[in-house]
Order: sequence, then C-alpha cells, then structure tokens
Amino acid sequence: MGWPVLGNLPEMASRLAHRKLAHLASSLDAKRLMALSLGSTRVVISSHPDTAKEILAGSSFSDRPIKESARLLMFERAIGFAPAGFHWRHLRRIAAVHMFSPRSVAGLEGLRQRVADEMLARVGVQMEEKGVVGLRGMLQEGSLTNILESVFGSSSSCRFGELGQMVKEGYELISTFNLEDYFPLGFMDFHGVKRRCHKLAAKVNTVVGQIVEGRKTRESHENNSNNDFLSALLSLPKEDQLSDSDMVAILWELIFRGTDTVAILLEWIMARMVLHQDIQAKVQQEIDTFVGNNRHVRDSNIPNLPYLQAIVKEVLRLHPPGPLLSWARLAVHDVHIDKVFIPAGTTAMVNMWAITHDPSVWKDPWAFKPDRFIEEEVTIMGSDTRLAPFGSGRRVCPGKALGLATVHVWLARLLHQYTWLPAQPVDLSECLRLSMEMKKPLACHVVRRCNFAAS
Ligand code: HEM
Repeated sequence: MGWPVLGNLPEMASRLAHRKLAHLASSLDAKRLMALSLGSTRVVISSHPDTAKEILAGSSFSDRPIKESARLLMFERAIGFAPAGFHWRHLRRIAAVHMFSPRSVAGLEGLRQRVADEMLARVGVQMEEKGVVGLRGMLQEGSLTNILESVFGSSSSCRFGELGQMVKEGYELISTFNLEDYFPLGFMDFHGVKRRCHKLAAKVNTVVGQIVEGRKTRESHENNSNNDFLSALLSLPKEDQLSDSDMVAILWELIFRGTDTVAILLEWIMARMVLHQDIQAKVQQEIDTFVGNNRHVRDSNIPNLPYLQAIVKEVLRLHPPGPLLSWARLAVHDVHIDKVFIPAGTTAMVNMWAITHDPSVWKDPWAFKPDRFIEEEVTIMGSDTRLAPFGSGRRVCPGKALGLATVHVWLARLLHQYTWLPAQPVDLSECLRLSMEMKKPLACHVVRRCNFAAS
C-alpha cells in the first residue's frame, strides 16, 4: 500500500531503489509481479525472468513514460522516449545502419585505440606524479571523447569541452528526483529543475545547431569522406532526411546515452579486478597467450578472449549500470501479465538487479565467479531475461554492440599494459543516479607489464 498520497515514492527516491524494491518483492512474495503507486502513477514491477520477458519482449509495453526533465531536454523527439510509431522506427533504423551496424562499429576502431593510448599514457603519468591512479575521471573523459568523435568527427573538437559540461548538467537534471513526475503540479518548479532544463535545452540547440550548420556549409564545398554519424545524417537520401531539430535531438541523445554507461561499467570491472587479483592474473595470462606481449589488443582478438568476456558478463550481472533498466516502459493498451490485468497507461519496470541476485535464478548469486559463463553459454543481448543488462525486445539498447566493443578492448588494453593494485580498500557501495555508479571512486596503484613499440 505504501504511504498515503505518496505511495511508495520514498523507496523510489532512494539511491538504492533497486535493493529496496527487490527486498519488498521478495518479502511480499511478489517477485513475479508487484503493484504499487508512485504518487498518482500506477506501477507494476517484475523481479522474475518470465514476467520480465512478457513486459520487455511483447508489443504491449513499447512506449516509455516520460519524465518532465527528459521531455524538456528534447529526448521525446529522439529514440529513447519517442512513442513507438513511425518517427521512432525511422530514427532507430537510421542509427542502426549508420552508427551501430557491425561496419560502423568496426570503422570506429581507430578512434577507440587512440583514446585507449591516451588513457594509458595518463595512467602512467598519474602513477609517476601522484603515486595513485584515479580511474573515474580518465574513463569519463575517454568515453566522452570517444562518443563525441563518433558522432561529430574530430573537426568539431573545439566544442567538446562545452558539450562535456552540457552532458554533465543533463545527468544531474535527469537524476534529480522531481515530484512533478508523479503529481500533476504544472505550475510548481521544485529544485528549479524546469528552469535549468529550459536553459540547458536552449544551449544544446545553439551549440549542436551550430555544429550541424557549420558542417552543412563545409560539406557543400567538400566531398564527404567523414566516418562520423553527423556526416551520415547529412548524406541521407531526401526521403530519409531529418529536420534540423530532430537531428539536434538524436545527436544530443547519443552523446548523452553513450558516455556514462561505458565509463561506469569499466570502473566496476576494474574494481573487481583490483579486488580479485587471482582473476586479474588469469585474464592477463589469457591475453598474453593469445595476443603476446609485443603488440596491442585489437577488436579482432576479442573473440579469442572468452575469459575476458566472461568477466564483463559477470560484472554486468553483479553491478548492472541500469539495475532498473534505466528507463521504464508504458502499457499502450490493456493487457494481462501472468494472468493479472494491467490497464493501459500503467508504468512497468523490470528490476534486473533483483533477477541477477536471486538465488533461485543464479547459483551463489553474490559471489564474483566469471567461470560460471565459461561453464554455461549465456547471451546478454536480450533473449535471455535472466541477464538482460541492455533490456530486451523492440526497445532493447541499440548501442549494445558499440558499448561492448569499447568496454572489451579498453579493458583488455588496461589489463595488458598494467597490473592493477588497490591504493586503498575497495568499497563496492552503490549509488543509483541515472545509472548505478560506485559511490566512492576507485583509487589504484599500477605496475607496468608490457612495453609496446607501436599501436
Ligand atoms: C554498457 C553500455 C550500455 C548499457 C548497459 C545500456 C543499457 C541500456 C538499457 C537497459 C536500455 C533500456 C532498454 C529497454 O527498455 O529494453 C537502453 C536503451 C537505450 N540505449 Fe543503451 N546501454 C549502453 C550503451 C549505450 C550506447 C553506447 C548508446 C549510444 C551511443 C546507447 C543508446 C541507447 C538508446 C538510444 C536507448 C533507447 C532505445 C529505445 O527506447 O528505443 N546505449 N540502454
């Protein structure tokens, strides 16, 4: 029942909402489906692979409820929040072909390697100068540069500092708990969220709009030979072309979505590597055996590194960046789940964290055991809802292949070049904002393993 008027908002407003909701579902014997209210919003939550599949993979929950801040920041016109109609399909198709296809992901390998070179050089300098390496800032900057260059190309790099600040401000606004998302209080502006969103949206329109305009002018004079997403958008055939405002919205969304997930996941993985030195040594051994120690790890080596992939899966299981799958779904019509009637307009959430920590789904769920994925082949791309960190169904994360390619190759390179040791006890406390971050940044010592002559 929750509290009068507020319902279960206090649980949801917590930075550990996934844990509180998992506890509630388990203590009320409501893992398959739990109904609650968040203010005036009706919500159902699945903490079970079967009902999660029904919610994610069917067509009944193909829209998303939109938060006020997300609407004001233009995400309603982009992929993540557009209703599942023609416009959304059109955007997903364009992004699937020009940003996320195997060819596009492979075309960005040079960029991934260059950013890895820069990060590794900074690791060495930090260790030498300060005697400790703070990975978080480095991963965030690397991830931001990587996504900004994939989207805009290097010619717009003079605007990257500004764009980075805008992404940071956007995260803060979207992660701020806003009562208005749960009560129709149109005239109020708690915490000044609305005012700040309007200001940021105007800035995004100006900065991204200027980059688009500048590129249009340049490309009308030059042959388009760029490999970035903006160039692809500008070269679309007439019938597929997007309006300027839609272009700004999707470019902004991809930068926004593509930055934090990769950096946060890598920080969790490195925390586990520092904590489990035996596992770190085992994966380094795998890399040395298949790649050697006189050249860098490349994308093409990753299929030969099953233990490295198993580590990534195990961290996605224990520390999923989207424990509640980041953004919820909305029932587009009346539907039954598990024979329970769910009226149209109900918000549906999947507690992936609860599923991946459930002892009836995973043996020994609290233990860090990458070997479980060597013993059993489990796909993480969405078809198996025991572990679906990228969601599933029509609204599954379109950036999953790009995200994984980046995580795999950067992780391999960090571990190939250095041995990572704790600079202070590793603290695995969580903090759920838009994604689930480590509450305390990881601090490490490194010892160099290989000296490479060239990339
Ligand atoms: C480790 C990396 C990542 C994780 C764990 C992740 C996770 C997710 C999850 C859980 C969803 C919701 C899926 C659902 O409702 O079923 C999602 C949606 C989305 N993700 Fe990702 N993501 C990652 C990387 C990326 C990247 C690199 C991009 C783009 C550059 C991206 C763009 C998107 C977009 C646009 C959506 C909305 C899809 C839609 O509503 O149709 N993601 N992601």
